[in-house]
Amino acid sequence: MDKDGRLKLAVQKSGRLTDPSLDLLARCGVKLSRGKDQLVGFGENMPLDVLFVRDDDIPDLVQEDVCDLGLVGLNVLEEKRLALAARGVRASFESLRLLDFGRCRLSIAVPEGTSWTGAASLAGKRIATTYPQLLARYLAERQVAAEIVTLSGAVEIAPRLGRADAICDLVSTGSTLDANHLEEVETVLESHAVLIRTPVALAAVKSDWVERLLLRIDGVQQVKESKYIMLHAPRAALEEIRRLLPGSESPTIIPLEGHPDKVAIHAVCRENVFWETLESLKRAGASALLVLPVEKMLS
Ligand code: PRP
Ligand code: ZN
Repeated sequence: MDKDGRLKLAVQKSGRLTDPSLDLLARCGVKLSRGKDQLVGFGENMPLDVLFVRDDDIPDLVQEDVCDLGLVGLNVLEEKRLALAARGVRASFESLRLLDFGRCRLSIAVPEGTSWTGAASLAGKRIATTYPQLLARYLAERQVAAEIVTLSGAVEIAPRLGRADAICDLVSTGSTLDANHLEEVETVLESHAVLIRTPVALAAVKSDWVERLLLRIDGVQQVKESKYIMLHAPRAALEEIRRLLPGSESPTIIPLEGHPDKVAIHAVCRENVFWETLESLKRAGASALLVLPVEKMLS
C-alpha cells in the first residue's frame, strides 16, 4: 500500500513495547507529532508515520502490507506464524532486526505448592493461555496430552476460577504470578522485540529510508554499551594497555607534545568500562584516564 510514499510503522498502542519503541524512534532521530489519543503519529522530519495498534494485530498488518514495518514481540510473531501455518498459509513478514528491549518469557506456571516433575506433570491437565499455538507445540514436542483452554486475557486468574490447572503466559517481572500465587515452572519461549517488514517490495524512496533507519537502529543498539576512553601511556606500555582495553578495535595513538616517551590513546570500547579495568590500566602505567559515554555511532 503506497498512497503517499510515507513509510507506515505499526507500534503497540499500550503495553510493554510502547515506551521502548517510541524511545528507539526518538534515538533514531524521528520527531513525531501526536495529539492525545491519536492513533497515528506523524513523522515531522522523515516520511514515516507510526500507527498505534494492538500488538496482536501487528503481524497481520505487516503481512497484509497495510503497514511496511512493525515493532512487535517475538511471542506474538511466533504465535501468528504457527496459526498461519495451521491454516496452510506461510508467514511472509520478514524479521529485519532483533531488538534489545521487550524482554520477557512465555512460561508455564502452576498454583503454588503444586508438585512439578517436568512437562509430564501437565498430562491430562487443563492449561489456560492466550498463546494456544506455542503451547500446543511445546506439548507436542514433549508428547504430553493436555487440554488447552484458550482465553483472550486475564489468564492468571483462570486457576482460581477453576477453569484451569495451570497457565501458559508472559512473565517479565513475575509480579503478576506472585500476586496470583502462581509459580513459574518452565519456559516455553524467550521473547524480545523484533522489527519486521512487509514481504512486498518497497518503492526506492521508501526502501532507502528503511536502510537509513536500520543503520540508525544498529547505531543506537551499539552505543548503549559503548564508551569512549582516553588516557596517557608510556610508549613502552602500549601493547599491554591495548590488550587491557575492553572490546576496542584499533585505538588512535597520538604523540604528546614535549613527551617523546608518552602517547595519548583514544579508543571506543564496545563494552562497559569498569573500575577494575581502569585500575589495571593505571597499574600498567596509564594516567589521565577519562571514560565518556558515546551518544551516536555510525559505521
Ligand atoms: C502479560 C501477562 C501478564 C503480565 C506479566 O501481559 O499476561 O499479565 O504481562 O508481567 P509481569 O511478570 O511483569 O507481572 P501483557 O501486558 O503483555 O498484555 P498482552 O498479553 O495483552 O499484550
Ligand atoms: Zn497483546
